[in-house]
Amino acid sequence: MSQISLSFAEAEREALRLREEIAYHDERYYVLSAPEISDYDYDQLMKRLQAIETAHPELISPDSPTQRVSGRPVEGFETWRHQRPMLSLDNTYSIQDLQDWDARCRRLTDQPFEYVAELKIDGLSISLIYENGVLVRGVTRGDGTTGEVVTENVRTIRSIPLKIKGLGFRVQGSGSETAAVNETSDNSPAQPSQPSLFESDNEPPTQLSSNPAPRTLNPEPSSFEVRGEVFMSNPVFHELNQAREERGEMPFANPRNAASGTMKQLDARIVAERKLDIFCYDLIAEGSKPFASQREMLDWLRQAGFKTNPRTRLCATLEEVIAYCNEIETEREKLEYETDGVVVKVNSTKVQGEVGSTSKAPRWAVAYKFAARQATTRLNGITWQVGRTGTITPVAELEPVLLAGTTVSRASLHNEDQIRRLDVRVGDMVVIEKSGEIIPQVIRVLLEKRDGALPETVFPTTCPVCGTDLIRLAGEVAWRCPSETCPKKIKEWILHFSGRRMMKIEGLGDALVDQLVDRGLVRNPADLYRLELGQVAELDRMAKKSASNLIEQIEQSKQAGLAKLIYALGIRHVGEHTGKVLAGHFGDLDKLAAATPEELSNIFEIGGVVAQSVADWFRYPANQALVEELKAVGVVTQSEQAQSDVPQIFAGKQFVLTGTLATLSRDAASEKIAARGGRVTSSVSKKTDYVVVGTEAGSKLEKAQKLGVPTLTEVEFLAILESDQTQA
Ligand code: IVH
Repeated sequence: MSQISLSFAEAEREALRLREEIAYHDERYYVLSAPEISDYDYDQLMKRLQAIETAHPELISPDSPTQRVSGRPVEGFETWRHQRPMLSLDNTYSIQDLQDWDARCRRLTDQPFEYVAELKIDGLSISLIYENGVLVRGVTRGDGTTGEVVTENVRTIRSIPLKIKGLGFRVQGSGSETAAVNETSDNSPAQPSQPSLFESDNEPPTQLSSNPAPRTLNPEPSSFEVRGEVFMSNPVFHELNQAREERGEMPFANPRNAASGTMKQLDARIVAERKLDIFCYDLIAEGSKPFASQREMLDWLRQAGFKTNPRTRLCATLEEVIAYCNEIETEREKLEYETDGVVVKVNSTKVQGEVGSTSKAPRWAVAYKFAARQATTRLNGITWQVGRTGTITPVAELEPVLLAGTTVSRASLHNEDQIRRLDVRVGDMVVIEKSGEIIPQVIRVLLEKRDGALPETVFPTTCPVCGTDLIRLAGEVAWRCPSETCPKKIKEWILHFSGRRMMKIEGLGDALVDQLVDRGLVRNPADLYRLELGQVAELDRMAKKSASNLIEQIEQSKQAGLAKLIYALGIRHVGEHTGKVLAGHFGDLDKLAAATPEELSNIFEIGGVVAQSVADWFRYPANQALVEELKAVGVVTQSEQAQSDVPQIFAGKQFVLTGTLATLSRDAASEKIAARGGRVTSSVSKKTDYVVVGTEAGSKLEKAQKLGVPTLTEVEFLAILESDQTQA
């Protein structure tokens, strides 16, 4: 690669610049949820940095984004005594309790005060220790006095900065009582100040500089500690549990257990795959002048690059606090993560000091806990569901009951062990609970309500769909149908393959797949591409038009691209992101198929479990045959970049996409541009070369017109791709 020929000084400068740029995009993506560049462009930055570090290993530093995931498991965790104990919070369960807490605070101070109301995130608390602005240690709460050092695991959390942004840190006696402001070194342009992420200043995050200048850290203080709650978001939790059930492992009961179980992993690669996240809420900086308020501290954290919760609210009165609690309690369903209450804090640092703390918990803060989302209902039956990999999952069929705003009629029973542990029987009254899951879980049986002698639940020994004897692998909790021809497994596989984020064959729903498989027309994904119009038009509820639409969709899906294809194959442990990583690395399905587990596990972000699973999948003769069939029917099995004949007609050109394109998804359009050497950015500037305009284009089109940036309609854009020539 060209960068290997850089001089050491050039390489050093380039590595620093890339680290800044990657840190900037990590913040945009993981902290602000407002990415500016495509995954592809991000990967290019990362690859370039890796290449430089490979050529000059002496440049590797712990704050490099390439060092987030350590390749070697640790043997155990050391312990660490907290500089200040990590206290807990007193709980309140009613408005009356909250009023009592408020009255007590007011007895302890004669100052008027405001409140900061924060979500109580249901995860595990963590302490992050920074020295010279660089993350050096991550410690669990432990017993509050001593915790475990889990630095390697904490480093994998992408919303945690490995190095903070250079901000003015206020040292003792340094003046103003207003929020900390950005101070940058002389040679870096001042950054636009970021808004407070407090709801009261309800503004979307403003654009940060898209070309991050090197930021230097001011000298003081050399060391500080940030505390926050590490959690697993509900979608990640759901995906993890699904994968665990398919693998025959015990699912986690809730996202909190999943997060703390993950933090105890000795292998950081597993932690990295679990995609933990954090919200920070506390800063301890000995020797620096304390912030005047909790709010200022949170603003500082946000500006230094830490993720703070955007639903935080400054409340002038207790009534406002109560209104906030009620609001969050009704809206918690819509959040992407679990919250079990609201933490109410006195805002002023001075008043906090006056109100004081006990040895266990601060008096100036309290948790207002929500009621558990539980309901009681009758179990009418158990359905034994067969999954894509043959796993048998028992599902509770319930007497419909209202739970947290929705009517629930099904709940998860997970597996045989769970059924035995609960001793759940059809006819029982059961308690169901919702926590992060899409469908709730049965957590308890009300044995005292059992009517007489209900028959014990018998787990099936044969597949409820195809009758094949079930097997249970050593060490697994799940029973599976091992049949290659089980129609249900094939149906689930086809549905996965054609999913929106995989090959995206729209219109191929349950009912159609049922018919295609039941009539023997489809036995594997390659069969889809051999379907003829006549065969499809004959199916129930299919008219000529819808049949030809479906054929068209199937045809189009051949171009979905290698990353999506890899995901679509349904290899265990390979999700959307891993699909992209593998496609980016190999560029060709045949090359991936030939890779050894060792080769695979040497790839950045691919852990041992994933590597083994991928290699196993391709060793299997039926899968090898499938790969050949997919190639034979014309499915694209190479990335565009790998098809060396793509002319680099967009080399160095910047594109912006706006509005909806009729024939291409945003990802597909970006990929095509990138394959031809161009770059897609999110906002229009003078540097933009083309804006591709779809329907319902908004302000970006206006801006392009104002700046005189050339625009392309979708038809024009496609014509250029087709001819692979720019008129320009
Ligand atoms: S403040 C001294 N703020 O709740 C104050 N804690 O029950 C200590 N938690 O151990 C914590 N979200 O793990 C605070 N916004 C938040 C929180 C929060 C979750 C957890 C934290 C703490 C536990 C106390």
